[in-house]
Amino acid sequence: MAQLEGFVKPGSIEEAIVSQIDFTRIPRHIAIIMDGNGRWAGRRMLPRLAGHRAGVQSVRETVEACARLEVEYLTLYAFSVDNWKRPRTEIDGLMRLLLEFMSRELNTLLQNNIRFRTIGRIEQLEPAVQRELMNAADATAACTGLNFYIALNYGGRTEIVDAVRRLLSDPEHAGKDLSALDEDSFARYLYTAGIPDPDLLIRTSGEMRVSNFLLWQIAYTEIYVTETLWPDFRARHLFESIVHFQGRERRYGGLSTRDTAEPAVKR
Ligand code: IPE
Ligand code: IPE
Ligand code: MG
Repeated sequence: MAQLEGFVKPGSIEEAIVSQIDFTRIPRHIAIIMDGNGRWAGRRMLPRLAGHRAGVQSVRETVEACARLEVEYLTLYAFSVDNWKRPRTEIDGLMRLLLEFMSRELNTLLQNNIRFRTIGRIEQLEPAVQRELMNAADATAACTGLNFYIALNYGGRTEIVDAVRRLLSDPEHAGKDLSALDEDSFARYLYTAGIPDPDLLIRTSGEMRVSNFLLWQIAYTEIYVTETLWPDFRARHLFESIVHFQGRERRYGGLSTRDTAEPAVKR
């Protein structure tokens, strides 16, 4: 059962929202497009980097809330393959914040039994960043609680192209007939091999698009968009998104239980 004692104060708004959550139906995998840092800073007449810096606290709180709710997988979209189009100073600032985050948070991850990994073309990041990420992944490899992924230099289309390349260079398939290839065997070549598809995709700051995130994996994911900007995102917003998620009916292309219970229409 969720361990929210000491995290959610009795009588608080958080507690009122948490009371609406069905703890037997917590999403296994939550993915988040952390958007709106620049707008948050702009509204305060601050440089964009101040928004990214403020967003780090939202990451901390979201990771802790997911661990306490016993969510199995959390994937945060932190830097896309398309974000290289931004000014060099912003990119450098983001990488610095990432380095800081990894070195400061490693102990907390370990204490909370959180296993950290990345998805994306990590080999194209600066060597110092790669080292820090690898160090955190190695250090937390034996943790058995929340699986926490950060998507870095990640693109959904890039991931699919990388998967095709890996598949074609795998001796199991190279030069052979691919007619037996199916969705499950293809998905083994994605960065997310072995990870269940997200149940819930959250996007902050109101934009109604997926911006190249987990394109293959979100085929039947429930999408929740909040106007809240990422630096303002707190545990209560996560709790709210789960309440909304639990109110949805997932049909996967089939019929709802209500519809299947109806007598067949006579012709
Ligand atoms: C999200 O915030 C963080 C990254 C993409 C790195 P943005 O920087 O995109 O913020 P907005 O969308 O400009 O407000
Ligand atoms: C998506 O946000 C990428 C991340 C959150 C890392 P963007 O701000 O880059 O996406 P667009 O440009 O609004 O589509
Ligand atoms: Mg944005």
